[in-house]
Amino acid sequence: MKIFDLGPSPTEKKEENIMDKNYYVTTPIYYPSGKFHIGTAYVTTLADMLKRLKKMQGYDCLMLTGVDEHGQKIEDKAKDENMSPQEYVDVQADAAKKLWKTMKIDYDIFMRTTDEYHCKAVQEIFERFLKQGDIYKGEYEGWYCKPCESYFTETQLVDGKCPDCGREVTKMKEEAYFFNMKKYADRLLEYYNTHPDFIKPEYRKTEMINNFIKPGLEDLCVTRTSFDWGIKVKSDPKHVIYVWLDALTNYITALGYLSDDDSKFKKYWPADVHLVGKDIARFHLIYWPIFLMALDLPLPKTIFVHNWFVMKDGKMSKSKGNVIYPDQLIERYGLDATKYFLIRELPTSQDGLFSPEEFVERYNFDLCNDLSNLLNRTISMVNKYFDGKVPEYKGLQNEVDEDLEKASKDAITNFENEINNFEFANSLKAIWSYISRTNKYIDETSPWVLAKDEESKEKLKSCIYHLVANLREIAILIRPLMEDTSDNMLRQLGMSNNVTWDSLKEYKDIKNTKVIEKGEPIFMRLNAEEEVEAIKDMMKK
Ligand code: MSP
Repeated sequence: MKIFDLGPSPTEKKEENIMDKNYYVTTPIYYPSGKFHIGTAYVTTLADMLKRLKKMQGYDCLMLTGVDEHGQKIEDKAKDENMSPQEYVDVQADAAKKLWKTMKIDYDIFMRTTDEYHCKAVQEIFERFLKQGDIYKGEYEGWYCKPCESYFTETQLVDGKCPDCGREVTKMKEEAYFFNMKKYADRLLEYYNTHPDFIKPEYRKTEMINNFIKPGLEDLCVTRTSFDWGIKVKSDPKHVIYVWLDALTNYITALGYLSDDDSKFKKYWPADVHLVGKDIARFHLIYWPIFLMALDLPLPKTIFVHNWFVMKDGKMSKSKGNVIYPDQLIERYGLDATKYFLIRELPTSQDGLFSPEEFVERYNFDLCNDLSNLLNRTISMVNKYFDGKVPEYKGLQNEVDEDLEKASKDAITNFENEINNFEFANSLKAIWSYISRTNKYIDETSPWVLAKDEESKEKLKSCIYHLVANLREIAILIRPLMEDTSDNMLRQLGMSNNVTWDSLKEYKDIKNTKVIEKGEPIFMRLNAEEEVEAIKDMMKK
């Protein structure tokens, strides 16, 4: 019999805390309208990196991606291809999954909005809104943008064109249901102001307030009668539910919300982060939180809005012949180089430029010169001076060692800070400045000089130890984004790839390690001129 209940032991407690650490990250669900280019692949790459990082940190993670399969655009596309909409979306969903496989995207749920459980839940949500009086029936007259499937008022148009995509709009009138957005406007504003982490980066919040909330939120038309391919309103089936109401709710229906098994919903909602592109910020920052408020559900902790990849001559488009697809880059330069470029080149503050020159330069400088050469030089020195056996930690031999160890700690802190601030390109910059610092350490310590003098043997051991320890740390830091490279580095260093984020704490603990006899370059220098041309050719195809 227990007399005193002392609570969980420290180890039990630790395990309990880890179990509490859930992380739910989402990408937008894609329109299945053709091949995904590198711009569209960006957000999935980012979600995958965050998931892998959190997993290494001991979180129980769930990543959602998928396809947004309803709407007039899809109906039209299917017609163009002589297919039924369902046949068309089936083919497209398979193509999306194939790309994510090539990119080794570690998603947990692939949402398809044509799945029955989703359709049923959306219908129920609609009926609930009707019952609550959040949705009412009326008549809609407005300027309709077919590609965006959105109505606009006269004042919202920019030079008479769609404010979102700049294309032609047409005047249309139809019986429709509306969602009473106005009712929630003050609550939304209050939420923005009391939850500083809700919208990242901050300037997107200002945009929403100034462009949409302050001028007065319009009620949103949430049904269509002009086409068929969508989820029907249960109580009035000639109406199809607006594709954005259908799509946004995927973030909760994917977890089983309103289904027989909502255990995932209970465990993972609210999402830790929705990652969305700037063109769909309004839907996620205004309509989605309002729908959730109307459902009486907690809001996602953060919605991060990213910028776009653009080309020298503007937006990527097939007609301009400037589109580049991830599988083309992966085939020629490998997965990790492609993913590195995507995350490294898109800043949080503005659009990122894709240019063949920049791609080749990043490959040659960052990956080949800085990273690959550091590994190679180190492995060859361990072999040359110590027969491949890594010396044990010797403490600090001089100020340079001290400075390097400080850089090692700073690299981890800087990386984590940048990630926590949603500065993903900078998080890689932090790793690469550490790589440069380590390269500089070789020049500062000149191991080839130390090797000449028996008296400096201890210094040489310390130098080589630090280089190996730094490389191990680098392999762990890049792991969430570049797992194959990380595996390769650890293998060449003679170490296990069974590492977690906590392994970073073992900087001084490397023992009994033997590197491979001859280093293998992880990235080989490219012939810049040839490769720039090769990428330009890919764009023309
Ligand atoms: N179906 C909607 C999302 C619904 S989410 C509930 C949609 N799909 S999309 O296929 O058009 O876009 C998917 C994502 O790709 C969006 O986040 C969009 O911003 C992003 N990108 C499209 N072109 C892009 C670039 N050139 N660069 C970076 N991201 C880009 O919107």
